[in-house]
This record gives sequence, C-alpha cells and structure tokens, in this order.
Amino acid sequence: MDDLKKNLAVNGGKPVIQGGLKNRHNIGIEEKNAVMAMFDNAIETGRAPGYNGPEEETLCLDFAKFMGGGFADAVNSGTTAVYVALRALDIEPFSEVIVSPVTDPGGMMPIVMNNCIPVVADSAPGSYNTGAAQIEARITENTRAVIVSHIMGEPADMPSIMKLAEKHGLKVLEDCAQSHAARLGGKLVGTFGHVAAFSTMFGKHFNTGGQGGIVFTKDEGVYWRIRQYADRGKPFGMEAGATNCVASLNFNLSDMAAAIGIEQLKKLNGFVKSRRKLASMLEKGFVNLKSIEVPGILPDAEPSYWFMRLRFNGDSLACGKAEFLDAVEAEGVNMIKDYGIARPYLMDWFINKKAFGTGGFPWTAPQYKGGHTGGFECPNADRAIADCFNLTVYESWGEEEAGLILQAFEKVEQAYTK
Ligand SMILES: Cc1ncc(COP(=O)(O)O)c(C=O)c1O
Repeated sequence: MDDLKKNLAVNGGKPVIQGGLKNRHNIGIEEKNAVMAMFDNAIETGRAPGYNGPEEETLCLDFAKFMGGGFADAVNSGTTAVYVALRALDIEPFSEVIVSPVTDPGGMMPIVMNNCIPVVADSAPGSYNTGAAQIEARITENTRAVIVSHIMGEPADMPSIMKLAEKHGLKVLEDCAQSHAARLGGKLVGTFGHVAAFSTMFGKHFNTGGQGGIVFTKDEGVYWRIRQYADRGKPFGMEAGATNCVASLNFNLSDMAAAIGIEQLKKLNGFVKSRRKLASMLEKGFVNLKSIEVPGILPDAEPSYWFMRLRFNGDSLACGKAEFLDAVEAEGVNMIKDYGIARPYLMDWFINKKAFGTGGFPWTAPQYKGGHTGGFECPNADRAIADCFNLTVYESWGEEEAGLILQAFEKVEQAYTK
C-alpha cells in the first residue's frame, strides 16, 4: 500500500475532519420561548394547549402567505399530508396514480391507503425526479392523478408535467417534503400543481418539532376537503348544523408543534439562502476534482438543497463508488452514499401487495380494471442511484466546512487516482 493510501482515515490515518463537522443548530431561543410561553399560559389559566387553535391558524396563514397566497392546513406528518392531499383531490378508489420512483415510502403508500393503484414512472434521464415523458409512458385510461416529488430540494419539470396533466385531465399533487422554498422559473415548488404536501419533520428545511406536515392549495374547494379529511370529516366550510361529512382519521398537528413551526418558518428563507451559498462554494471546489461532478439540473431551477446531489465519476480512479465514498466518509464527511433505500416500489410491502388483509387489496380488487400492478422498470432511476450520492449540507455551515469537505474529497481522490 502506498503512502497516500496509508494516510487515508479508512486505513487508520488521521481524518481530515476530526470529531466530525458541527451539528445543524437550526433550533434557537425563539422556538424555546414560543413553547415556554404556551406552558406559562397553560399553568396560569389552567387550560392545556390544544389543536386547531391560534398557533395552528397563524402557522397556516403564514405558510399560505409564504407560498404567495392560497390555503394551508397543518397535519401531523409529511406522510399524512400526502394522504390528505390525495384524498382531497376526490379521485375514485381503484384509479391509477402515477408516482415518482425515488421517494420516501410516505410519498407512495398514501396512494394505496386511498384504495388507489400506484403506478411508478421512471426518472428523467440523469435525475432522481420524474419528468413529463416518463409520466406519459405510464398513462392509461385508469390514470387520474400524478404525484411528483422534488427530491433533494431539486425542482422537477413542473411546466411540462402540468401541460401533460392538462392534456389528459389529470390532477397533480406536488410532494414537496424535501423541497421547501425551492423555485423553478422564479416560482415556488408547490404552487404548480392542484395541491402540495410538505413534511415538517425535524430534519427538513423548517420543522414543527419532531414530526409534522402541511398541505397547501390555491383552490378553496380543495382546501375545505383537506380540512375535513384531516380531522374525521368535521364539517369545515359547510353550513351551520352540518355534521361530520366523511369518514377519515385524525391527522391534526398540535398547537405546540405549530408554535415551533411559526418561528421556524420565519427562518426558512435565511436557511435556504445559506444552503445555496454553501452549495455554490462546494460546486466551485468540485470543478477541480475529477471524481465528483455536479449533475445538471433544469436551467431555471433554484434548488433548496435538502442534501446536495452529486455524481461520482470513477474514470480516473482505481476504485468504485462505494469504496471511494466509504473512504470520504471515514475522513469525517456525512452523506447518504446510496439512495437506493428511497425506491418504495422495490420494498416488500409493494412487491407482496401488502396493505389491507392478505388478498392483495386494492391491487387485486375486481373493481380495478387495469393491469399495472407491479414490475415497474425504471432504468433512469437505477442509473441515477448507481451514479449519485447525497452530501449533507447544513445552513449553519460556511467557508470553513466547505473547505474541509473539499479537502476530504481531494485527499481520497489523490489516493485512488490511477
Ligand atoms: C418525498 C417525501 N415524501 C414524503 C415523506 C414523508 O414525510 P414524513 O417523514 O414527515 O412523514 C418524505 C420524508 O422524508 C419524503 O422525503
């Protein structure tokens, strides 16, 4: 083994980043004060904090304003946000819903929980995100809706997708669980489709404590259905005297979680600005490396970098992607080395058609007239996952962290260069 290889942390050498980079530090005194004020009030008045109260109302109004107008409802996770958003589109059970291939299970399972059939479209070439051509290839007479995920904060090609959807009379749900404040052509993602779902779990751009989600729409009719489906069919938006109008579950966010969200939302633009600045510093550094490419994105896209998607190029190296990234990780760089974990259609639940009971419902229900029950080939998604990895980027990191990350990649590249 030569000296360069011996010096790698993976081989027992001293890592570039000793003790790891600093944690995210995205929660501050503002969130603490907001929650403490609710405790103070509860102790003083004897009334416990609840839900559907002033904090949730403020969060929803603020969020709708952030989106440039419309309606928002806070729910208790990104998964339930997708579930409620899809339900609010009022498509009939056993319809086919086309969905992005690279997503969280929470971005795909709600289709089945709505008694509909998930049909997985491939990614656009070179991307985790699906595109209009890949969606079009999956449209049948049973298709009623499309769920488009903007993965890693990278906008999907919404103008082309909306044009296609219009042509075929399809509803579009934007899954913005990873893409808060990302823009395409200057327009926020989540404002292109008929409805949008956001996750506000603790790792997202802005959060409502441990878990949470927001459903957004510009359509008031859809909004009232969202409210009803998110809370046991309560007759929101209906005439006085109406009773619970539809069966559903309780997906409410608590007001205490909303109070955290109000403060976090104020920080969102700043967080995203910092993430873009960090990504730009890293991008400039990666230009000098042969092993790492910054993949092309849509020309007018402004990602919000949940992670920074990067492509490994092993042409000049004597190792493969896994070995290379293991070595970079050992130098103290955090990342998701293989995003193959984010293909829910390759998981047991999907392959074994396991949702309700043991008979494969809803895929096997006689009411389902199509044949799109599995075996979805997604070669572009496979390629993107094989080639790419997701580098952790935090809004609290700056020049120092970017420098250390680049140094770690450089060190490993030098050691493995043929
Ligand atoms: C694309 C996508 N959709 C849905 C979800 C589900 O969100 P949650 O974890 O808040 O339920 C996630 C979670 O990361 C996601 O990345």
